[in-house]
Amino acid sequence: MKNGELKEIIGKTLGVDDKKINEAYVAQPKAYEQHTDSLSKQTREDHIALYHGYIKSFNDVSANLDTALNPSSMPILNPNNSRYRSLKQNETLCRNAVYLHELYFANSADVNSQIMMESLTFIRLQREFGTFDEWQMDFIACALTAGVGWAVCGYDMFLKRYHNFFIDDHDMHVPIGVYPIIVIDMWEHAAKDYRNDRKAYVISQVMELNWSVIEERMVRAEAMAEVLR
Ligand SMILES: [Fe+2]
Repeated sequence: MKNGELKEIIGKTLGVDDKKINEAYVAQPKAYEQHTDSLSKQTREDHIALYHGYIKSFNDVSANLDTALNPSSMPILNPNNSRYRSLKQNETLCRNAVYLHELYFANSADVNSQIMMESLTFIRLQREFGTFDEWQMDFIACALTAGVGWAVCGYDMFLKRYHNFFIDDHDMHVPIGVYPIIVIDMWEHAAKDYRNDRKAYVISQVMELNWSVIEERMVRAEAMAEVLR
């Protein structure tokens, strides 16, 4: 679908003239096929539907922001009671929800998951965490101590090293300047097949990480760090 068509749909949904939606960005869903026995078909389908919902919300927020400021009649702008502030909060929330889901879907559900000892990923994680097992233990600890949120391993552009951390919700405790490399969804909807056993869920996801996708991200992150040097 072209951006123009999407803007027309968004304009109709919001009841605004789509010609006025000039600066809005438009995110489009990507297709993911997750062939795995670690998650039920129903959970996978529900998760993709949820991701589509976040994309719709993200695009709606974008279009609303595009028409939120009018120089001739400025809206209320303060940190306590402002539609503009609410839209900016929702923008970050939906943006992160969309891209964290895309990162997670792409780096998961590899039933033939295998990390090569000569790969950049293995060498870097071993170098920076002592051993690969220590990286894994730290990553799982981040996942299990996350609230409703995400476990992430990313490349820190300031410290020039890999770093495990968690995000609560989609937008809390997000370190600036970190490029995400490995992402696991720790929301209850993702782990519902495991009921309350978050540990069993996390281990199932770590065992099915797609190391080829992760390796490509790592190469890209280090190339970006070189440019920023
Ligand atoms: Fe999710």
